[in-house]
Parts: sequence; structure tokens; C-alpha cells
Amino acid sequence: MLKPIKIKEDLFYLGVNDRTKALFENLWTLPKGVSYNSYLICDDKTALIETVDICYSDVFLQKLETALAGKSLDYLVINHMEPDHSGSIGLLRTKYPNVQIVGNKRTIEMVNGFYGINAGTNIINEGDQLSLGKYNLVFYLTPMVHWPETMMTYETTDKVLFSGDAFGTFGALDGGITDAQMHPEKYFNEMVRYYSNIVGKFGSPVQKALEKLAPLDINYICSTHGPIWTIKEEINRVVSLYDKLSRYEGDNGVVIAYGSMYGNTEQMAEVIATELAQQGVKDIVMHNVSKSSQSYILRDIFKYKGLIVGSPTYNNKLFPEIEYLLSKIEGRDIKNRYFGYFGSFTWAGAAVKRLAQFAEDVKFEIVGTPVEMKQAMQPDKYEEAIELAKAMAEKIK
Ligand code: FEO
Repeated sequence: MLKPIKIKEDLFYLGVNDRTKALFENLWTLPKGVSYNSYLICDDKTALIETVDICYSDVFLQKLETALAGKSLDYLVINHMEPDHSGSIGLLRTKYPNVQIVGNKRTIEMVNGFYGINAGTNIINEGDQLSLGKYNLVFYLTPMVHWPETMMTYETTDKVLFSGDAFGTFGALDGGITDAQMHPEKYFNEMVRYYSNIVGKFGSPVQKALEKLAPLDINYICSTHGPIWTIKEEINRVVSLYDKLSRYEGDNGVVIAYGSMYGNTEQMAEVIATELAQQGVKDIVMHNVSKSSQSYILRDIFKYKGLIVGSPTYNNKLFPEIEYLLSKIEGRDIKNRYFGYFGSFTWAGAAVKRLAQFAEDVKFEIVGTPVEMKQAMQPDKYEEAIELAKAMAEKIK
């Protein structure tokens, strides 16, 4: 039997860890699992913030019952309807038929659409308040972070922000649930990966949400995934990180993502990486696209302002895994990247042409002269690769 964890007086953590799923959304790798966070405020009235993935309903409902300690459940506040959080709504309603479901108009439509529930729902609007007694909830609509119904709920007495997916991370919670109970450093890379994989397309809505939150004094950020942020410096850090990511601002580093069947294109990637280092670029991340998960490649593209892509020609097109990566970059509207590219072919070149088209489509700034190699690297192509690396290093420095 698992018990709720007290975060502070009257606030309980009811979240669960998923170390079983291989892929989040059936797309994104989860080597360290993920947590689905849910919270209960126990006041004159009780309010549950989010449920959890349906696979964990049983343990979640047990925790809820224990935390309620005989009280009735008055409200379920839904900040986000994606089923990793809304999955247990149907069972919750069966167990607590009188619970009032609180959400904005889009949320309540989805509650009906996903779970066939259309009674006992309360539609709230921007800035509406819900008093629980000692504690008071205010609702902030933050659409498209990263679904249309996404919102955040701010508890004004203890200054707790229930932020939905925003400021969340991949990675299950290994014992500690707050930043103060752990060394939270390991979660920051996983926050960037979560952001780039899940939220990345919606930089502008995230900026609007951050503007809306800016006047709030925040003592706790209770997200739907990963640690609860309670230390001022960490709260500032996660908010700054979201600001930076949603402005597509990269650090001074270069990602080299390449495909290679027999190692020739890879050799060119190695030459470029070595020269970048010679030129003083310290953050260079190489990804063999056939080996690295796209989830991590995207994370690193969000982290760094330089991107170099290399691809062989395959069936008169790009190497398939490179094409797949480009579609993911395009799908996220990533901006402001310095872009270099190179490619290879055996009898007829197509890769470099397609990479040029991609650069034009996404409006990346092309750096240096693209290198196109026939079969294996000859001295002239070696020199061209060096020049490409020098041009990129110049931009990065
Ligand atoms: Fe964690 Fe958008 O669901």
C-alpha cells in the first residue's frame, strides 16, 4: 500500500512513478521513467489537482482515499486533459460521484469527448477564483502550452502554482519529490528534453504564459511531471530555462547530426567535429541518427545554436532517419539556428539539395559552404569540411 506524501500543511502529493513504459506518447524514450503528479488540497473544501494515467488508477485512488481521511472530495481541478493526467477521471467520478469537475470551456468539452462526462462540471474563465476556506485558487488560462485547454492554477495563501506540464521533466521520482529532498541537477537535462519533445513547437504561447505568471510570487511550482520546485533559486532557474527555450535561444555549442551507412559520411562528421574543437568550440555533440534517439537529438538542438547535418543519398533522397529528424525540427518551428550541411552520394547526389531546401524552408542561417562528397573523402573535400567547421566556429564564438 502506498501512502500520500505531505508537501506542506494541507497539501499532499498523490503522484505515481511509471518505470514500465518504454515510450512517452508512444514516441519519446523513457530510460528513467516518468512521474504523473497529482495533488490534493485539504481545506474546508477539498480539491484534487489532476489525476494520473489510467494504468496507475488503482494506487492513485488508494492514495487519494488515505489523504482524504474520511472527507468528501469536492473538486477536481483539471489544468490539462492529455490522458497521462486525465486518464483516471472516469474511475474517479465513479468512486466520488459528487465531485465537481473544474476546468475551462475547452477542458469541459474534452471531459465529455474523452470520458462521456457532462454533468457536475464547472466552467471557469480567466481570473476566476475558487475559495476552499483558508486556501484560494485563481485560474490562469495558458492555451497551447501545449494543448488548447492548458491552464494553470495558483493558490494565493501559500503561493503554490499548479503549472500542468510546464516546468515538468522526464524521469521518475526516486524517493524525494521536492528539489529540497534531492540534488535536482539531473532533472534539468530531462526538463529540456521534455520541453523540446512535447512543448517545443509552442514557443510563442509559452512566452505569453510566462508574461501572465510574471507578477505572481511563487513559493512552490507543482508540475505534472518530475520534482516539485520549492527552492527560490531553483524556481527562478526553471522559469528562466522556459523563457530561454521558448525564445529558441541556444548556447554556444554545435550539434552534428549525421547518417552514415558505411562510415564515409561519418568521416566527414569527424573531420568537422575535430576542427570545431581546434577552433575552440567546447560544446560539440555528435549524434549518429541511426543510434541516437530522436528525443535526445531534439533536446540538443534546442540547447545549442549551431546545427550541422550530414546525410548520404539514399534512393535518390535523404537518408531516411535524417529526413525523419528534419520533419521533427520543422514540426517544432525551431528558430535562430546557424546551419551547416554536408552530404554524400555514390552515383547521383540528392542529399545536399534536399538539405538546402530544408534550410530555406525553416529559414536557418546557412553557415559556410555545403560539402558534397562522391563515394569517399578526397583531399579537396577534407579541406572543404575544415572550412565549413571554421565558418561555424566563427559564428559560435
Ligand atoms: Fe503530461 Fe501534455 O501531458
